[in-house]
Amino acid sequence: MQEMAWYLTLVLIGLLAWVFIAFIRSGESDVSSAEVARKDYSYRGKMFWMLIVAGVGITLSTLMPWPHAATKAQSRVVQVDAYQWYWKLSDSEFRVGEPLTFQVTSHDVNHGFGIYDANMAMLAQIQAMPGYSNKLHYSFDKPGKYKILCMEFCGVAHHDMQATINVLPVE
Ligand code: CUA
Repeated sequence: MQEMAWYLTLVLIGLLAWVFIAFIRSGESDVSSAEVARKDYSYRGKMFWMLIVAGVGITLSTLMPWPHAATKAQSRVVQVDAYQWYWKLSDSEFRVGEPLTFQVTSHDVNHGFGIYDANMAMLAQIQAMPGYSNKLHYSFDKPGKYKILCMEFCGVAHHDMQATINVLPVE
């Protein structure tokens, strides 16, 4: 094994030496430095445009399928207002698969808008802040009852800040 590594090292050093020698000898040719620079710059120009084309292509193809563009257009807007200590939802009955945009704000202090399933597993959440309207895109994939809980301690009745959402099966 060691012998093998030794011979391999020799071969690689030989190759490297050959590349060096070839490089040095190429420098002895009578090509002017201006000619070398011209070739280099034209290569660089081509690389630059290839990068631009690749960058634009990759950006478009990877960013276009983002959910934002699709959900913004056809989603149902649900206004959510948080108060000490209750939630006001403009709607609380939805369909499975229906794209929803929860527009969440608060009228006093910071609250946390959290959606939980029947097993109390959290599905989605966003901050409810006074002076801001935060958007949460979500769509339910199973029918049933869901709970809205406050996720930020907001005072003495924080634990009471609950609401229920009913999700109906697909029509
Ligand atoms: Cu609202 Cu805690």
